[in-house]
Amino acid sequence: MHDDAYMRLFNVRGRQYDAAMARYPQARDAEFDAAVAIAGIAPGECVADIPCGGGYLGRHLPPGVTLYSVDSSDVFADCMRATGASRFLLAPIDDVPLASGRLDHILSIAGLHHVVDRGPFWQECARLLRQGGVLTVGDVPAGSRVATFLDSVVDRHTATGHRGIYFDGATVPELEACGFSVECAEARRIGWRAESRLALADFCRMLFGLEGITTAELLPRLAEGVGLRETDGGVELDWELMFFRAVRR
Ligand SMILES: C[S@@+](CC[C@H](N)C(=O)[O-])C[C@H]1O[C@@H](n2cnc3c(N)ncnc32)[C@H](O)[C@@H]1O
Repeated sequence: MHDDAYMRLFNVRGRQYDAAMARYPQARDAEFDAAVAIAGIAPGECVADIPCGGGYLGRHLPPGVTLYSVDSSDVFADCMRATGASRFLLAPIDDVPLASGRLDHILSIAGLHHVVDRGPFWQECARLLRQGGVLTVGDVPAGSRVATFLDSVVDRHTATGHRGIYFDGATVPELEACGFSVECAEARRIGWRAESRLALADFCRMLFGLEGITTAELLPRLAEGVGLRETDGGVELDWELMFFRAVRR
């Protein structure tokens, strides 16, 4: 179930995803902060977030950045309009209505593991970035505990199921073939945070739109399948993402 089917899924699930991000706005701070740090964005630069979902990246950027937010889902478009976001573009991720060479940076977070052929997206990023511009991508690594969790627990408890196409050894050659030099390819543990175990499970249940499983039932699945740890003032889920920093040649 990918591309068109997955977009239909997000038209069903998007509101719940956005509600989870609104109820627990700090839960994924480490993920967005890591992407921004890897990218190395400077004040005054021109950045695009593709696909942006409900636009969660903005508050992690340095001051003075011009941000374009791009998504192809009508539901996320409604979410963006409701927040009064400026520079939102409802467009396919491989056909963005911006001039060639317009951008210094593109960030793409957790949005590509249902895109069957990522080549057209890499090519569109190469068109949009100036020479020397940077594409920073973070998504789930193939073979990781996170991938297994998504394709088992999330698959079982969503009407649409879940089968991801995760980042593997093919990703770097794909990027290089589309005009990028990959400077960094690194799997990182990213702690998703909440004030308690139940709050973290509630966040995940909402974010993934899980049905037929209670928050209390989900908790051991998260602890065993992904990993949970107590931290100062809260709990962290051992989420993991593969990050690429790719420079437009
Ligand atoms: C998990 S959300 C990530 C959104 C945001 N970047 C974040 O980190 O919260 C996945 C996003 O990918 C987009 N998406 C999923 N499959 C897609 C596809 N096949 N083509 C284009 N966009 C897709 C959805 O519209 C959604 O915004």
